[in-house]
Amino acid sequence: MKKLVVLSGAGISAESGIRTFRDSDGLWEKYRIEDVATPEGWRRNQQLVTDFYNQRRKQLLEVEPNFGHIGLAELEKDFDVQIITQNVDNLHEKAGSTKVIHLHGELTKVRSERYENLIYDLSPDKYEIKIGDLCEKGYQLRPHIVWFGEAVPLIEKAAELVSQADILAVIGTSLSVYPAAGLLYHAPMLCKIYYIDPKGAENLPNYVNFIKKGAAEGVKELQKILRDY
Ligand code: APR
Repeated sequence: MKKLVVLSGAGISAESGIRTFRDSDGLWEKYRIEDVATPEGWRRNQQLVTDFYNQRRKQLLEVEPNFGHIGLAELEKDFDVQIITQNVDNLHEKAGSTKVIHLHGELTKVRSERYENLIYDLSPDKYEIKIGDLCEKGYQLRPHIVWFGEAVPLIEKAAELVSQADILAVIGTSLSVYPAAGLLYHAPMLCKIYYIDPKGAENLPNYVNFIKKGAAEGVKELQKILRDY
């Protein structure tokens, strides 16, 4: 089976009703990155950060995958599909994709602020953590999210996966946050690269096939293209 590696970003979940970060009505228009997505923000105001991620989790209970996610899960019939997502939602898994790695963490997990390997699943319908919820060693639980300024532990694994791709599909990401954006450059010479996005990213290399569409329509088109592989 040919290896199809997918690098997805916030845009793939936009049609499910989750806002992207940098579009005009995006999350970073309403919140300051420094306040809710950095270790300094956490140190300054744990309540604000906890509330922000509680809201994100609550929203997750109300949304469903769209054809962007579903179409990629369907492709597992004919391809060895590996998803690398920058998203912290669980919509790829909900759609049925079986190999998903989350570069920037997962909303449905929390971890000890002191011992980063003490990671806990929140039960499916629990979305809140509170100040005072502690890990088994007595330290506050924090979101299991990679914040700006923190290392991206899965980046090497992701680069290795991209370096083995026959086909790479980059979907719904502005490619503005590194190191994730740099993964594109790990694709082998013969790998076909498709980029699905209604807007497009700056500095997209000219060897990338640009499908200027939203995720659902774009993945439909990708399925058609891949029929001939
Ligand atoms: N279908 C596909 N793409 C879409 C759609 C859609 N319906 N609507 C918007 N987009 C595209 C936008 O054109 C944009 O290129 O999704 C992209 C979203 O870009 P960002 O908001 O920058 O999100 P992303 O690239 O995932 O951000 C990367 O930044 O803040 C951090 O950690 C956060 O993982 C995130 C990282």
